[in-house]
Amino acid sequence: MKRPIAISLSPNTSQDDVALAWRLLFLHMYWKDKKILSRAAESIVRLFPGHFVTLTSSGRQALFDLMRSYSITKGDEVIVQAFTCIAVPEPILWTGATPIYADIAKDSYSFDPEDVKKKITQRTKAIIVQHTFGIPGPIEEIVALAKEHNIIVIEDCALALGVLHNGKMLGTFGDAAILSFGRDKCISSIYGGAVITKDIHRTKTLQAMQNARQLPPKKWVLQQLFHVVLFAFVLPIYFWYGMGKALLVLAQKLHLISRAYSVEERKGKRPDHIDYSYSPALGLLLLKQLEKLDAMNTRRQEIVSRYEKELSVPTPGVGNVCLPLLRYPVQVDNPREILLDAKVHNMLLGDWYDAPLVPGSASMANFQYEKGSCPVSEETAKHIINLPTYASLTDTQVTSIIAFMNQYGNTGN
Ligand SMILES: Cc1ncc(COP(=O)(O)O)c(C=O)c1O
Repeated sequence: MKRPIAISLSPNTSQDDVALAWRLLFLHMYWKDKKILSRAAESIVRLFPGHFVTLTSSGRQALFDLMRSYSITKGDEVIVQAFTCIAVPEPILWTGATPIYADIAKDSYSFDPEDVKKKITQRTKAIIVQHTFGIPGPIEEIVALAKEHNIIVIEDCALALGVLHNGKMLGTFGDAAILSFGRDKCISSIYGGAVITKDIHRTKTLQAMQNARQLPPKKWVLQQLFHVVLFAFVLPIYFWYGMGKALLVLAQKLHLISRAYSVEERKGKRPDHIDYSYSPALGLLLLKQLEKLDAMNTRRQEIVSRYEKELSVPTPGVGNVCLPLLRYPVQVDNPREILLDAKVHNMLLGDWYDAPLVPGSASMANFQYEKGSCPVSEETAKHIINLPTYASLTDTQVTSIIAFMNQYGNTGN
């Protein structure tokens, strides 16, 4: 049975990943083999020559450790964009510092440098530049602005891996960058992340932070490996009388798999996995994904280029980027209705970010976001839909997505 169109739900996993995860469920000798982590880090350095890589258990942990390595703490401010997820302000709050939200520029999905300028104070210690959907943010402008004020620039490449901008890899413009290998990211080991820096001393500090942590408990590793296996069975029947969703909810309730964000985390509590070091078992999954990254990005770019040529719905901010985007954004008047209609047509399209801070069920107050403070982000969130670009989408599936979206060709804002 073939994989249905589903933007999330293990989009990067193919049969070889499932076979590996299945074997790893039983081959526990690999679960403690830290040599695997060195191999994975070496493989990532290939994308960032002249840099150093520290693997972490998530993108959240990468941001947390990186900010601690800069001694960011209570009383400091860190500027982040709205139109993001709680994973970005969370680590700022864990350091004791305050997240300050700057708005996005209209139709760009990333920082409006003018608003960033307004948000800089004596207390600003760092600016986190998010390359949303893989579209380069205004990194050169922010680096120049930060230099004037002696502020650290962290590139958030959680949604952009292997993307070139003006001939340079995203992640190499700022002082440091973070990656995520979460379940729906460019490549995935269900949980995982990394810090990229040019500074060997900082890397040593970051590695010492990793070494001070315990490996994750067995149950947690089993949950992540089982995630890969379970989705391979669930996906083909996902749209069959709601079976897929029911099975996934049941698996979560039985703690056979874990959620990306627990209910407590949405309320502001720090999740347990922040205290684990990166699991070598997940490192093996990551190595397999890294082997496929170039091919995946070539395919993403092909799909993006078809969307650019063939879509008639408004695609502000893209339309001519021709980059290997993680998701392709379109803007419509009635995103909720379209997302529901897509489900009726057995397609799961994306809603990143349908609130200035997602998941929308999280309490904005806990993450110190004040409603109305970033109007462009809030307005964009009302119109956004994202289309999948994952490598296993077939040409026929891309054609169906385009035909489906083009029915709504005149409803843009
Ligand atoms: C923009 C952005 N940055 C950072 C992260 C954190 O990544 P992780 O889920 O690996 O902690 C996420 C997670 O979704 C994200 O969307």
